[in-house]
Amino acid sequence: MCSIIAYAGQRVAAPMLVQGLKRMEYRGYDSVGLATISNKHILVKKGVGKVEEVNKSLGLEKMNGSVGIGHTRWATHGGVTDTNAHPHQNCKNDIAIVHNGIIDNYSELKKSLIARGHKFRSETDSEVIAHLLGDFLHKKYDIKKAMINITKKLKGTYAFVAVFDDGTVAGARFDEPLIVGISKDGYFVSSDVLGFIEHTDKAIFLDNDEFVILNDNGHAIFNFDGSKVKKQVTQIAWELADAEKGRFAHYTLKEINEQKHTIINALFSKDSKLDEFCDVVAGAKRVVLTGSGSSYNAALIAKQLFSKYAGIHCEAVISSEFQYASGLLDKDSVLIAISQSGETADLLQAVKIAKASEARILSIVNTPTSSLARTSDLFLGINCGPEIGVAATKSFTAQLALIYRITDILSGQKLCPNKSDVERAIGKVLNDTKNIANIAEKIKYIGNIYILGRGLHFPVAIEGALKLKELVYVHAEGLPAGELKHGPLALMDENTTVIMLNPDDETYSDTLSNVHEIKARGASVIGVSNVNSNKYDNWIKIPKAKDILYPILEVIPLQLLAYHTALKRESNPDYPRHLAKSVTVK
Ligand code: AGP
Repeated sequence: MCSIIAYAGQRVAAPMLVQGLKRMEYRGYDSVGLATISNKHILVKKGVGKVEEVNKSLGLEKMNGSVGIGHTRWATHGGVTDTNAHPHQNCKNDIAIVHNGIIDNYSELKKSLIARGHKFRSETDSEVIAHLLGDFLHKKYDIKKAMINITKKLKGTYAFVAVFDDGTVAGARFDEPLIVGISKDGYFVSSDVLGFIEHTDKAIFLDNDEFVILNDNGHAIFNFDGSKVKKQVTQIAWELADAEKGRFAHYTLKEINEQKHTIINALFSKDSKLDEFCDVVAGAKRVVLTGSGSSYNAALIAKQLFSKYAGIHCEAVISSEFQYASGLLDKDSVLIAISQSGETADLLQAVKIAKASEARILSIVNTPTSSLARTSDLFLGINCGPEIGVAATKSFTAQLALIYRITDILSGQKLCPNKSDVERAIGKVLNDTKNIANIAEKIKYIGNIYILGRGLHFPVAIEGALKLKELVYVHAEGLPAGELKHGPLALMDENTTVIMLNPDDETYSDTLSNVHEIKARGASVIGVSNVNSNKYDNWIKIPKAKDILYPILEVIPLQLLAYHTALKRESNPDYPRHLAKSVTVK
């Protein structure tokens, strides 16, 4: 996923575009570029690297003009090169475009454009947008018409913004987020509110099949058929400070530490829609949970909790697998979609499929203005503030906490956690950094690591493994401890490291037997538990707590371990290679 930003107004565009791209860099960070207009001339500067580096080497911030566009790339089509970086231009260089998404029919469009004499400079799918617009405007210089025509031609998912040498800016959205920011001295267009949060909290969220035109007459929004659309201006809840690192070296560490507040907020959420949400779940003939990555791991925990404490049996389906699971839903069913960003393409497709079978759509989301929140029948916010670090940390535990809250209501208050107990326990695990940094030193060069747990600890084992994969680039596997003797035990020898999630709840004694079996094969074991054991080579102590709270208390040390091990391997925990924060393409 890439990030797009544009500005048209009275101020010099480039410095604001560069700052906006820095805030959205978590969306994609392999190359950067800007295009600005001054004296009816489009100047383009772009290069491989992160915003800071390219800005320094090319002086992006110094580009003139009060109209401009910018982009950070996460390559899908064409390698990571200066030429493939955005913006891209048409042959006459009087148009420049930036694009997020995938144009599925780009090669046939490209072929027909080349047949009509167009010369392509990059290997990207995106460049066809610039040439197509040029082609339409060549016939008749009517930007609105050109936008109507191009949206008829393009197939795939896209949010693109084009700038024309007459100073006009135009942007369109189909299955990729695009937002207009309204400030007192001009307009922004961006993939994410963070792109312009420094300048305004007034935004218009474009829906699918809509485009916007910014020119001297201000802004106008149209449907793809050209009919004008009146849109509501939304006040953004997030503050700029929420998107700053503050005293922390990395967003990931800041967000891990914010959990002492974010978990409590979600666990004791007073959301007015909670009861209605629970009534819909309780009244459904069938409940299916879905999500991707960490959000799917939260769905696995919800499945166990709803069944164990509320007697509601449900399925948990990975969003990217949803399209292959036919006949899952009907009008008496409910889909609970879980997502931090609310923009994950696989999940939005699962929601589309569920809507087609008339199921009700409930969602648990962090971004209240996201596509998921806006397309759901009812959504609950986890309200943990913007999460910038690519690895989900505070959003995962806030999802769990809200799922506990829902389970508590569905079960007639069977859980009822005690606020001060929870606060104390979280404080303790967040302070165990010294021990965890020592363990990180020991494991920093291992090639494989296995995380084992039973019951609710199994999905946490998968989540912990995901953090190590994302931040440490190590082969990490989450396994149900009970499966050990059915195969994985063969992997255990003196070169193997295992993290055992083993607090003293109903799973304790069986899991401890597994520790003995693993130690008998010479492997080293890191125990995560409130009880130490002489079988552990390293012990990560978590406080004694209500059984229900152990998944939250044991995942935080796993987040910290991944963070500190990444530092030991000198990789940047905020921007892991090849990944991006919200996966808006399938
Ligand atoms: C988790 O650390 C990853 N960032 C990723 O797996 C993420 O959970 C997944 O892409 C789902 O994102 P979402 O919650 O924004 O839908």
